[in-house]
Amino acid sequence: MTPYDILHIENTLKETKIVVYRCDMKRILTGIKPTGVHLGNWMGAIKPSFELLSKYKDEPTEAFFFLADFHALNTCFDPIALKKSIKEVAATWIALGLDTKKHIFYRQSDIPEISELTVILSPFTPKGLLNRAHAYKAFVDKNRELSQSDTVRDLDDGVNMGLFTYPLLMSADILSFQADLVPVGEDNSQHLEIARDIAGKFNRNYKTETLKLPELVVRKGALLPGLDGRKMSASYNNHIPVFLPEKKLRKLIMKMTTDSTPPGETKKKDSNALFSFYSNFASNEQILEMEQKYAKGISWGEVKQEIFELVNEELKEKRDVYNHYVNSEKELEDVFKEGALKARLVSKKVLKEVKDLIF
Ligand code: TRP
Repeated sequence: MTPYDILHIENTLKETKIVVYRCDMKRILTGIKPTGVHLGNWMGAIKPSFELLSKYKDEPTEAFFFLADFHALNTCFDPIALKKSIKEVAATWIALGLDTKKHIFYRQSDIPEISELTVILSPFTPKGLLNRAHAYKAFVDKNRELSQSDTVRDLDDGVNMGLFTYPLLMSADILSFQADLVPVGEDNSQHLEIARDIAGKFNRNYKTETLKLPELVVRKGALLPGLDGRKMSASYNNHIPVFLPEKKLRKLIMKMTTDSTPPGETKKKDSNALFSFYSNFASNEQILEMEQKYAKGISWGEVKQEIFELVNEELKEKRDVYNHYVNSEKELEDVFKEGALKARLVSKKVLKEVKDLIF
């Protein structure tokens, strides 16, 4: 473990004092793009972050959670939609268990040091590294395929520099805070590798360890399938938002695709989307029971109903917290203000160290 400056906010009647003291601890950091949160984000990124915190509950840990609103800007140029999305995602995170007093919760765009570190790290980022990043490569591959029928098409059609440099900005998000552990979905593991590469290159050049190489934490177990059976993802448009009114949630779950095995006939559980969906939310006991029901020929409709009940049960009370925060702009602004204040105590210090090495 590394000695860190722990930030401790003391509220007295007269003033808010921030006390900084050194201690051995682990710093956990993760971000989420405010472009809506679906059940897959919850299972893949938010829940694992909380699980990680409880795993280390007897050790000093510090959690940095943030909204990656610059990353969202790559695809959302509508300020009203973006603002709405930021509120919804922040409210979702709080409703799912983020403790705004204990955890450091902020907007990426409120931390200018992240942008400055992005510029500083650009020369340490080989272009080839970003050429290989999968989101960018997917665009190029698609354009290459299309260009066979349309010869004027550019391989970079539809790619903006925000998309191309996404992994670089993400590296700065992480390295600005010297994070030890970064819980993310499997699809972000390449980004973590890139962050480590960039940090390594910088550190070797300046013979320093200022930029801490982050460790990836990926949740084990099945990915959450979306409505069409593929991995749940907003880009496949097969997702279920976390906080929907009960009726809408049920309606969406009922839309999940299945094969045509009739009621009464044994269902295969292996690589069955409904089964792995159910398993994501169920206890071991419930999973065993469902296995037996599959063997006995439960109908797909009944499986979906059980999925709905399970998910809804977990979300029922949290829905009230969500509704409170999503309608309290002022309260959220205060949370972000305090979060940025705390977070910047670290990012300013790291950036200063970095600049002192360079100039
Ligand atoms: N790329 C993450 C996502 O897919 C969001 C993100 C941006 C992030 N910066 C980060 C996650 C830094 C962890 C650490 O939503």
